[in-house]
Amino acid sequence: MTTMRIPLDAPNIGELEKEYVLRTLESGYVSSVGLLVTEFEKRFGTWVDVPHAVATVNGTAAIHLALRLFGIGPGDEVIVPALTFIATANPVVYVGATPVVVDVDPVTWNIDPDEVERAVTGRTRAVIPVHLYGNPADMSRLMNIARRYGLYVIEDAAEALGATYDGRHVGTFGDIGIFSFNGNKVITTGGGGMLVTNDPDLAARARLLTNQGRAFGAKDYEHPEIGYNYRLTNIQAALGLAQMERLEQLLDAKRRNAALYREVLRDVPGLEWQQELPEGKGRSSWWMFSALVDADFSGRDRNTVAQRLRAAGIQTRPLFLPLSQQPAYAGYGLAECPVAESLHRQGLNLPSASFLTEEDVRYVCQMLLEGETL
Ligand SMILES: Cc1ncc(COP(=O)(O)O)c(C=O)c1O
Repeated sequence: MTTMRIPLDAPNIGELEKEYVLRTLESGYVSSVGLLVTEFEKRFGTWVDVPHAVATVNGTAAIHLALRLFGIGPGDEVIVPALTFIATANPVVYVGATPVVVDVDPVTWNIDPDEVERAVTGRTRAVIPVHLYGNPADMSRLMNIARRYGLYVIEDAAEALGATYDGRHVGTFGDIGIFSFNGNKVITTGGGGMLVTNDPDLAARARLLTNQGRAFGAKDYEHPEIGYNYRLTNIQAALGLAQMERLEQLLDAKRRNAALYREVLRDVPGLEWQQELPEGKGRSSWWMFSALVDADFSGRDRNTVAQRLRAAGIQTRPLFLPLSQQPAYAGYGLAECPVAESLHRQGLNLPSASFLTEEDVRYVCQMLLEGETL
């Protein structure tokens, strides 16, 4: 949370959420025993149109589970895009595998399929495309490459609930898709995640692993496998169910804000933004509208613009620091990724909370352009 006049993003919690959470508190079923987790999984699966959805404690845990389910471990390589939140890559290290970082496309900012193909070796087992800031990656090209080389695809749709590729929800193309319900995401459960798949066996094993390696309803304290405590709680599911009821409304607001940014900022020299795949193939959820500021923007750099906005009470953030530049990954010999690194230098996330009004977005644009010679 921030005290800024216009925050970058913040949860959109209403009366319905309060009512559902309160009712759950009063029921006494506050932890993972209770019916709401299953109900949330069903509601979510139906909405994204996938047969199996397994709730998890967060999105990072869902990626970790996916890697475990595919038996990925030491000696294996997993391809990830350079421009993403660090949580895409960390679970690769948790399982002892090697992250291989590839560059992104300068237009969509998503993993470049040509770079993926170039990075495949005899040790590559999986690729984790990310639908960055809600913008769909090129799934048909990625799935083709993955099938050709026998790679698992784990779609990181943490930021992309509501985004579609070829009319289908992202997260449902790969072997497994994951979503995040962190406080800043399209919907929130406080913290939480979802693993989705078309494969019933993968879903059953995922569920087992979230519950300390024991199937629900199985003999007390008998654990056939070593699992994790990765289960979502009933309280979180209550919040998630309320948010699901408001999901279309929240998405409409995100798209409306992004459309207004594009309209007002169109034709401003030196200012660009993330683009969807052409011909309506990818439809972004516009979770986070982000602009690129280059030297033509009155010769100002990203930081100067960010400072000016901050002084006007507007919160912004630079694009993610690419994995290739992350101190935590300094010892991993990751390749340089010039496109991701340049996007990071120029890119700024602009306020995108679903409760922003048209007036708020116009104010951000006005402050962004103030003092510029147009
Ligand atoms: C691209 C991406 N992947 C993974 C995650 C991890 O999700 P969580 O914070 O729920 O663990 C996030 C967000 O936090 C994310 O933005």
